[in-house]
Amino acid sequence: MLLLAFETSCDETSAAVVRDGTLLANVVSSQVRLHAEYGGVVPELAAREHLRNLLPVARAALQQAGVRPAELQAIAATRGPGLPTALLVGLRSAQAAAFALRVPFLGIHHHEAHLFSPWIAGQPPRADFTDFAPHVSLIVSGGHTMLVHVESESRYRVLGSTVDDAAGECFDKTGKLLGLPYPAGPVIDRLASEGNPVAFDFPRPLLHDASDDFSFSGLKTSVRYFVRDHPELLADGRQVRDLCASVQRAIVDVLVGKTLKAARRLGVRCVTASGGVSCNRELRRRLGEACTASRLTLRLADPQFCTDNASMIGLLAERQLLRGVKAASLDEEIAPQWSLGEAPPSPR
Ligand code: KG4
Ligand code: ZN
Repeated sequence: MLLLAFETSCDETSAAVVRDGTLLANVVSSQVRLHAEYGGVVPELAAREHLRNLLPVARAALQQAGVRPAELQAIAATRGPGLPTALLVGLRSAQAAAFALRVPFLGIHHHEAHLFSPWIAGQPPRADFTDFAPHVSLIVSGGHTMLVHVESESRYRVLGSTVDDAAGECFDKTGKLLGLPYPAGPVIDRLASEGNPVAFDFPRPLLHDASDDFSFSGLKTSVRYFVRDHPELLADGRQVRDLCASVQRAIVDVLVGKTLKAARRLGVRCVTASGGVSCNRELRRRLGEACTASRLTLRLADPQFCTDNASMIGLLAERQLLRGVKAASLDEEIAPQWSLGEAPPSPR
C-alpha cells in the first residue's frame, strides 16, 4: 500500500510517504524559530505557518519518494489531540486530497502514533510492534506527559498523565528562568552534561504518589523562587550548568521512577519512550540503566522520530487499513481533546 500522511498538530509541518511498512520520505518543517520570540507556541501563528508550508512540504515528500499523487492509495492526517486551528489545516488538506484522488482517508490519534514511533527506525530491523505487547509507554513532550499501558496493537489504557505542566514545558519554563533560549530542553540537556546534578536539591513531584500521574508546575515554581533568592548564580556559567543538571536530574528521576514503577506493577516485559523530551540524553541513559536492572526490554524512538513527524502517522494509518479499520468519512471533524483508547468521535 502506498500512502501519504500529514501531521500539523502543533508546531511541526510534516508530510511522509510510506509503502508496505517502509518509510520512503519524511519531511519536517519546524516552526521553532518563529515561536522562539514568544517563548512558546502561538496557536494562530502555527496554523498560518502550516497553511503556508504544508503544500511545499507534501510536494517535497512526494518528490523524495519518487511518487506521483495519482499513485497514492490512501491519505492520512492527525485528527487530534492538538491545537485546533493547526489540526484543521492538515485534516482538511488530507480530506481534500483524498476526495480529489478518490482514495480512502484515515484520521489518526496523535498519541497513538507516538506509541508507534519507537518502531519507525527498526531496532532490530523489522521488529514488530505486536511482539512487544504488552508494554508500558512513556510519551513525553512539550504538550503531553503520559504513561500508557499498551495491552495489544489496538488496546491502550492511559495509566496517568500530567495534572498541570508537561515535562517539556518544565524544561522550557525553567530554562526561561535561567535566561536560556526557547526551546530550552536541548540547551539544558547540553549544559547539564557539564554540570553537577546534586549541586541543588529540587522537588520530585508525585514521585512516590500511588497514582501514575505527573505534576511539574511545583518544580518550576521552586526554581522560580530559588532564582529570585539567588540571582547572582545566573551570572556564573558554572552555577548555571549545575542548576541545569540539578533540574534535569529532578525531572528525569520522576519520569524514570514512575515509568519503572508502572512497568513492574503491571508485569510487562518492555518499556518504550517517545516525544520530544525522549531525545534527552540523561533520560535515555537512565531509562536504559533502570530497564537493564529490572530485566526489561527498552525501545526508544530514534531521536529523529521523537519529535512530531508524519511518518508515525503514515505507518500507523497503513497498519490500521491493513488490519481492516474502516476509512473515515471525508466530513470528519478535528478532535482536539480525543482521549487515547476511546473510539474516534464521529462527525456531528
Ligand atoms: O514532541 P515535541 O517536538 O513537540 C510537542 O511538544 O508536542 O517536543 C518539544 C519539547 C520541547 O519542550 C523541548 O524543549 C523538548 O521537547 N525537548 C527536550 C530535548 N529536545 C527537545 N527536552 C529535554 N531534552 C532534550 N534533548
Ligand atoms: Zn507529539
